[in-house]
Parts: sequence; C-alpha cells; structure tokens
Amino acid sequence: MKSKNNLYKYFYIENYGCQMNVSDSEIITSILLNHGFFLSEKIETTDIVLLNACSIREKAELSLTRKLEQLKFLKKKNKILFGITGCFSKKLKEFFLKEKKVDFFVEPDFYKKIPNIIQYISNDKIIPPSFFSKNRKETYEDIIPFSDNKKKITKFLSITRGCNNMCTFCIVPFTRGREKSSNPYSIIKECKRLYKIGYKEITLLGQNVDSYQYIIKNKSIKKDMMVKFSDLLSLLATEVPFMRIRFSTSNPHDMSESVLNVISKYPNICKHIHLPVQSGSNKILKLMNRKYSREKYINLIEKIRNIIPECSISHDIMTGFCGENEKDHQDTISLMNEIKYNYGYMFSYSPRPGTFSYKKLKDDVPKHIKKERLKEIIDLQREHSLFRMKEFIGKTQEILIEGISKRNNKNWYGRNTQNIIVVFPKKNFLSIGDTINVKILNNTSATLIGEID
Ligand code: SAH
Ligand code: F3S
Repeated sequence: MKSKNNLYKYFYIENYGCQMNVSDSEIITSILLNHGFFLSEKIETTDIVLLNACSIREKAELSLTRKLEQLKFLKKKNKILFGITGCFSKKLKEFFLKEKKVDFFVEPDFYKKIPNIIQYISNDKIIPPSFFSKNRKETYEDIIPFSDNKKKITKFLSITRGCNNMCTFCIVPFTRGREKSSNPYSIIKECKRLYKIGYKEITLLGQNVDSYQYIIKNKSIKKDMMVKFSDLLSLLATEVPFMRIRFSTSNPHDMSESVLNVISKYPNICKHIHLPVQSGSNKILKLMNRKYSREKYINLIEKIRNIIPECSISHDIMTGFCGENEKDHQDTISLMNEIKYNYGYMFSYSPRPGTFSYKKLKDDVPKHIKKERLKEIIDLQREHSLFRMKEFIGKTQEILIEGISKRNNKNWYGRNTQNIIVVFPKKNFLSIGDTINVKILNNTSATLIGEID
C-alpha cells in the first residue's frame, strides 16, 4: 500500500532509552517504508517526527519532554506531525495532550496502525477508540526490521515483548503489556537472513528472556511441542553456527540450569550474562516483588561460575527504593563485594506513575541520600571492574572487529565473548566484521587494550 496523502511523506524517528527501543524503531521504520513513506535523516527536512519513548526511568522521560520543548519552533513554523511511540505513561500522555504538543500516541502493540493514524490525521478525521482495541498477540515476527546501508555487524532482535513479572517499581508491564514470545522459526529465519547480509552478532532481547516459550502445534502427531529459551538458544547456535549470539535480560528468578548448560556447550553463544539484582537486601527485594532472595541470587552466581567459568556477569542495581535504610544499602554493598561484577548499570529510584510502588509505597529516601548511595555503588563498581579487567591481562581473546576506535583512528575496537570492549592497532589485512585473536596487554576500568596475537 502506498501513502495516499501528499501532506505527510517524510518521517524522522528518534530513540529514547533502552535497547528494546532501538529494535522497535527498526520495526516502525520498516512498517512506514512499506507503506510508501520515506525516511528522513534530518529532523529539519521531515513532515512527521516520531519520538520513540522510554518511561522506565524518570530521566528518559524528562529528556523526551525537553526535546519536545526544543522542537516547538518546528511545529509552529511548518506543518509537522508529532507522534510519540513506545513506552509512555498515561500521565505523560495526558500532559502532552493537554499542552497540545503531540498529535498522536502509539503504544507498542499498535505500530502497524501508524500509517492509518497518519491518514486519519491528514484527512482531519478523528480516530475511533475501537481502532486501538487490545491486540495481545502482536510480536511483529512478520516484519523484517529495517537495516540502513551503513556497514554494521551487530544487531538487536526482540524475541519476547512485554513482561509478566510485576516488579513493584516497574512501568513495563503497564506500557508494554503481557509477555509474548515470537515464533522460533521466524527468529531463526531472521538470523539466517542477517548473517547472509553481513551481520556477525545478534543480541536476543526480552525483558526476561528466560521465560521465552513458544508452543508449536504438530497436527500430524497430535502433540504440541514447547520451545523454551534453552531450546531456542541451541537451535540458533546450530542453525546459524558462525553468528555470535548474545541475549539480554536474564531474570534471576527464571534462569535455569539448562540455559547455562547450553551457553557452556556452544562456542558461538557468548559467555556473558546480564543478571539484574536491584538490591542486596531481602527486605527490599520483597518490597520490589523480585521473587528471589539474596541467598538464591548468590547461589545462582555460583552455579554460573561453576558451569561457565569464563562467564562475565553484569548487573542493574537501584538505590533508594522505598524503605531502604542504611543497613539495606550496606547489604547491597556487601553483595557487590561478594560477587565483584564485571560491570553494571546503576540508578536511583524514581517513582513511575501507575506502578504499585508509586501508588502504595512511600518514596521516603531523601534525594541527597539516594545520590550519595548511588555514588558509593558506582565508585565500588569501578573498583570491581578494574579488578575483573586485570584478570584478562596476558590472555589471548577472540575479538569481533566492530569499527574504528573513536579516540584513535589507528585502532580497531571490538568485543570479546564476555562483552568487554577491546582496542588494538589496525592492520590492513583485516576489516570490520573479521574475528581475530588479540593478546590483552593493558586496561582501563571499561576497556581492554591489546595487540594482534
Ligand atoms: N527486565 C529487567 C529490567 C528492565 S528495566 C529486569 O528483569 O530487571 C531496566 C532497569 O531500569 C531495571 O533493572 C532497574 O534497575 C531500572 N529501573 C526500572 N524501573 C525503575 C524506576 N522506577 N526507577 C529507577 N530505576 C528503574
Ligand atoms: Fe520490569 Fe521486573 Fe519485568 S523490572 S520488565 S517487571 S522483570
């Protein structure tokens, strides 16, 4: 179907927040291109501006609000449509509607309707509410995500959408809905296609990849077959044997030993697990509804290190959650000291409208204490990262070359299987996408420095 309206043809899309949004923007771009719209590289030359929002943390939402403020002049000057897609709270939507800053909103289940929405608006028609009747099954497995022509070799691919865990602080179950898994055959097909066009590494995305499950109905033997995350990983590892496979995020509550065994078995499955812990205090974990205890989490880490000794482990930690006192904070510090993660992402708690903690718990940790605790864990993580980096020194590592180092164009950069950036001098006989052995000689807290072995 071609775009019927002459008014709005060019679209520009900008991302806020997480990796999931990068993948969603590629899906939205494909949908619009298939409907006769054109992608605009610059915001100044577009008719439609799509801001793909992330409301997980207040910070991303604030930068989106600032962006809209900055773009006000464009809206006044030209007849430009502004749309917000992705993950946004009801409260944010109401605010923007009241301020007349945004023309339309599209939740993650309705991206396929964006062309029709633009059609409605360009014909000055009101969108009927039935248009957005719930579609709980949308996985976009029939859409080939957009890839631009710039040579890239790594790609994100969503395998599950939404989340069924109700962590009390988290807005995702409200903005992205119930969990849905994509058909394993379409995931394999897409990975094979990506490999054929030059991609060398794929990151399977989901809020909780371990709970991936897809039932394949086998009519001939009248038996259904359940494909779990460990099955999907083995299938991909064998069907696309030269593709590096990563995945994120693992949930401590659902991660199974069978997944660990599959990671250990296949060399093309990367040896890195992102395992958000959020807090080291059982009291806080309970208030967060995280469904595991500190002891269970540490046990899982031990299992990972037994089954996959070379595995790197990263985390998400949130400080200053409702009711967190100094002892709870010290529990997080002691957990970090016990595990010594390779790296991590650290945040201070911001109440998100609509969540359980927003409605029922008191955001009682003063801002300056949140800030202090956050700084303390960031500093501690830096120490641990340095400690973990030193473990690589003198070792030879297989690196997938991803590009030219931004700091020094005489160097390549790539990553090892543990997802750590490695920088090393360029050689003419190599190009982006090659895999090469690099001996690690030095490090900073975030980068390894080496030379071709
Ligand atoms: N699915 C992942 C988390 C996705 S959200 C999991 O299982 O943990 C990414 C991270 O954002 C979370 O791990 C958490 O640390 C942080 N986050 C989520 N909600 C937040 C909030 N209200 N305030 C601050 N940080 C938050
Ligand atoms: Fe959010 Fe918890 Fe799911 S952090 S995305 S509700 S696992």
